[in-house]
Amino acid sequence: MELKKMTGYAAVELVEDGNVVGLGTGSTTYYFIEKLGNRIKEEKMDILGIPTSYQSFLLANESGIPITTLEEHDIDIAVDGADEVDGNLNLIKGGGAAHTMEKIVDYAADRFIVVVDESKIVDKLGKFPVPMEVIPQACRTVSNHVKQLGGIPNLRMGKRKGGPVITDNGNFVLDVKFESIDAPAYLEKELNFIPGVVENGIFSGVADEVIVGTSNGVKNLKNKLIAI
Ligand code: 5RP
Repeated sequence: MELKKMTGYAAVELVEDGNVVGLGTGSTTYYFIEKLGNRIKEEKMDILGIPTSYQSFLLANESGIPITTLEEHDIDIAVDGADEVDGNLNLIKGGGAAHTMEKIVDYAADRFIVVVDESKIVDKLGKFPVPMEVIPQACRTVSNHVKQLGGIPNLRMGKRKGGPVITDNGNFVLDVKFESIDAPAYLEKELNFIPGVVENGIFSGVADEVIVGTSNGVKNLKNKLIAI
């Protein structure tokens, strides 16, 4: 948890007064949002946040970050976590079932910063299953399509809630394990072609920078030290 904390905190330094900020979801962005709220108070910054989930919406409210929407503002910078990151800055996201709104917000940002601890860095994507948000009525047909593409789908089940996880948008999540993902950009498009798929968790070619929490400090992907 300490690595996530120092990574989330380090990303706050990239936010400038006057920015509209995309607020990612998860335990690493939790620290980013918390610290951003502190900075706004201490430095009297003029910041607006655009949340990617109910989780980040509630946390932003608690942290005193004024909220706006994509209808009203463009995004200067988005900061979000990831479940896997490869050397070409391709990502798998959606461990928190929030990848649809995360993709909308992160892709819309002028600058998209990913915050992860070092356990998320991989040579090739695919150890983590690809989350797919699916319209409930299409769950079986999407599963059949996914199997034809070589994936093994698993309906994500709730914890302390009977039945499947329901996303912020009222849909199901299939976690799809692929043997290996050789062409993330291709697979991202292929999965979204399947009728009933709302969005999948591959984010190819969109991250501008990855900030990594390591036991030797916070670094970028090229191993340059950013903070200790
Ligand atoms: C939520 C996400 C998260 O950003 C991702 O799961 C990483 O979370 P954490 O920072 O808790 O490890 O994509 O849908």
